[in-house]
Order: sequence, then C-alpha cells, then structure tokens
Amino acid sequence: MQSNVSRHPTTSSGRRAEGAAGVTQSGRGPTARGHGSVRGRVALVTGASAGIGEACARRLAADGARVVLWARRLDRLHSLAGTIDPGWAGRNSSGAASEGSPVAGVASVDVRDRAAVFAEARRLADQGTIPDIVVNNAGLAAGLAPVAEGDPDNWDRMIDTNVKGLLFVMRAFLPHMLRRGSGHIINIGSIAGRQVYPDGNVYCASKFAVRAITEGASQETLGTGVRVSAVNPGLAETEFSIVRFAGDSQRASSVYDGIRALSGDDVADVVAYVAAAPPHVNVADVLVLPSAQAGAHHVYREPGE
Ligand SMILES: NC(=O)c1ccc[n+]([C@@H]2O[C@H](COP(=O)([O-])OP(=O)(O)OC[C@H]3O[C@@H](n4cnc5c(N)ncnc54)[C@H](OP(=O)(O)O)[C@@H]3O)[C@@H](O)[C@H]2O)c1
Repeated sequence: MQSNVSRHPTTSSGRRAEGAAGVTQSGRGPTARGHGSVRGRVALVTGASAGIGEACARRLAADGARVVLWARRLDRLHSLAGTIDPGWAGRNSSGAASEGSPVAGVASVDVRDRAAVFAEARRLADQGTIPDIVVNNAGLAAGLAPVAEGDPDNWDRMIDTNVKGLLFVMRAFLPHMLRRGSGHIINIGSIAGRQVYPDGNVYCASKFAVRAITEGASQETLGTGVRVSAVNPGLAETEFSIVRFAGDSQRASSVYDGIRALSGDDVADVVAYVAAAPPHVNVADVLVLPSAQAGAHHVYREPGE
C-alpha cells in the first residue's frame, strides 16, 4: 500500500510545479475563483450518436469546447457535427478537423475494438488533437434476466463495451495526458454501479467495475495534474431501454411510466459542471437522479390515468 504519493517535482511551498496550461505554481490559475470553463479545450465524447453522449457533445461545444465525436453510427455523428457547426457538411466528409471549427473530429469507433481505439487515438495525437477532456460514455444494457436464464452473448456485449471499451479509451489517452501533466477523464457510471437490482446482474457488475476503475485511476494519477471523475445517472430517458429490450419500444417506454426521468441534457449539465471545474478541483463522483427516484429500488410513479 502506498500513501502520500509524490511522483512529481514540488515547489518550495510543497505544491506540484507547473504542468497544465494556465496553472500557476501555486496550482491556482485564472479560474481559481468561482467555476472554470471548457472554452478552447478539446473534449472527446464516446457514444456521441445518441442520448447522454450526444447531449454532452452539444453542451460542451455550446460552452466553447472543440468536440471529437465517436460512436459506431457515423451518419448520426455527421448530422450532429452539422448541427454544432453548420459549415461542417460542406467542408468535411472525411471527419477530419478544420481550423476554427467547434468540431475537432468525427470517427466511427467501436470501443470494443481495441486496435481501432488505439489507432484512432494515435491518429488524433499525430495531428495534435489530444483531448483535454474525455467523456467515456459509450455503453449499454442488453437484456434483463436472471443469471440462470441470461444470454451469454448479451453478457459479452455489456462487459466488452462498458468495462473493456471504457478501459481501452482510458489506456489510449491517459499516457498523453500524463505526459502533458493535465487532462480529465469523466466516466459515465450509473446508480446500477452502487445498487444491484433483480435481473440487472451483469449490467450492474459492469457499472460496479466502472466505479472501481474510476477510483483506482484517480489514485494512480494523484499528483499528476490528471483528473478522473465519475458521473452516475439514475433513470434517463434515452435510447438505453430500446437497446436493452432489443427494439421493443413499448416495453422500453414502460420503464418511464409515471415518472419524469432525466433527459440526456440533464446529465450533460452535470458533466459540463464537472468538466469546467478549475484545475485544483476534482468533482470526483456525482450521483444524479430524477427527483422521483431515491435509489435503484425506490421510484415514485404518478398513478396512471
Ligand atoms: N439511460 C439511463 O437510464 C442510464 C442510466 C445510467 C447510466 N447510463 C449510461 O449512460 C451511457 C449512455 O447511455 P444512454 O442512456 O445515452 O444510451 P443510448 O441513448 O442508447 O446511447 C448509447 C451510446 O453509446 C454508443 N455505443 C454503444 N455501444 C458502443 C460501442 N460498442 N462502441 C461505441 N459506441 C457505442 C451508442 O452509439 P452507436 O450505437 O452509434 O455506437 C450511443 O451513442 C451508458 O454508459 C449507460 O450505461 C444510462
């Protein structure tokens, strides 16, 4: 066990010497008073083609970040890029960055594909687009069944995406961030990473893993200028349940019966706050629930008509 980790040169006052751009030797930058800003920073969002990821990309771009959009559905990413930057379609069919655009890149990346994640990260680094912020959001639930009846293919999809995919993305970008002495990984966990619910077994396990990986990486990067955080939503009405129930939209919508669930934008508000915290602040772990939810097992539903 290690304690009082000190891997970096410190100033005479005992604080880490300058690393991140805009951070003074005291560790206090121009944003030290009040909340900070993401303006001018590069933010990569995985799973940006729908739901929470799409909302995060829009929000971070609206707050002045240059966004890099990853997901498998490239057509959706291009149409999102076009709403963020109306000139996008005319200039970019390749997904490459162009000077001054709020969209710094678009790529079809399946986060389960380790080689694809590393190759795309390398391509970004080679063109000098190392993300300051990574919103590690791509994820899914597949099915809802007891272990005794579960589909092992669904288990593979969840573990490969939510755990290994999240790890591949961290592995691809953390070394660059560490070399630069700044950066912020924001992992999207879940209330399911704190409380198990019946038939949620493997999805819950994958989000418990996100929690362990986030906390572990936060300890490992201590004193480096790199931050690792988790934002853990409760019920959010996105495409999540449609994916979980393999396109059964009626079953999916019943998940939100009688409750005003979170929207992607509600979660993006929190992610934007976490991302904009000044360098000396790490909003390490946030649980964000609809007001009608008080845990995985406690949801208040308005009686139906
Ligand atoms: N909705 C909720 O109630 C809720 C609650 C807590 C946590 N979360 C978490 O929030 C995150 C986002 O979910 P959401 O609610 O926004 O669901 P969503 O609307 O279904 O969006 C999921 C996103 O992940 C992407 N994705 C899935 N598999 C991928 C893969 N292998 N490679 C790359 N991208 C992939 C999808 O894009 P493509 O299909 O185009 O690849 C899509 O953009 C997930 O990690 C989820 O576990 C959701």
